[in-house]
Amino acid sequence: MLDSSIILVLNGPNLNMLGVREPDIYGRETLADIEIACREHASGRGYDIDFRQSNSEGELVGWIQEGRGKFAGVAINAAAYTHTSVALLDALSLLDVPVIEVHLSNVFARESFRHHSYISSVATGVICGFGSTSYLLALNAIIAIREKNEN
Ligand code: DQA
Repeated sequence: MLDSSIILVLNGPNLNMLGVREPDIYGRETLADIEIACREHASGRGYDIDFRQSNSEGELVGWIQEGRGKFAGVAINAAAYTHTSVALLDALSLLDVPVIEVHLSNVFARESFRHHSYISSVATGVICGFGSTSYLLALNAIIAIREKNEN
């Protein structure tokens, strides 16, 4: 297995507005708060985090392409692009490390257009509905898969 202890955490459009964006759905924590929580959670387990956000689909695709061979795994909250993006699906298909699809909200309890994800079919697993804890659960999943494969 790839010898990297860095986990890439990717965030899609409008997640830079967390804290003020529909707090009843997404909570009051900012993306910076979530980044800090991810870093602390990962560092206690011997991992570093590369945490990024973009409103641009193309930039996210570029980061996934550049990430090939560099990361222990990828946690991705593609936000609205989850429900629209064949380009992200194709980019994620290039990876051979655990990919965990993350959502703060329980997308299945919301509008029907959020029930379909283009990226679930190439994700190792999907975690949604736990607020910011969804990110920490995704990190746990990547680390657990990695440690299982090392033994
Ligand atoms: C989201 C759910 C998506 O449907 C939505 O477009 C988002 C955030 C979530 O984290 O719950 O922007 O990915």
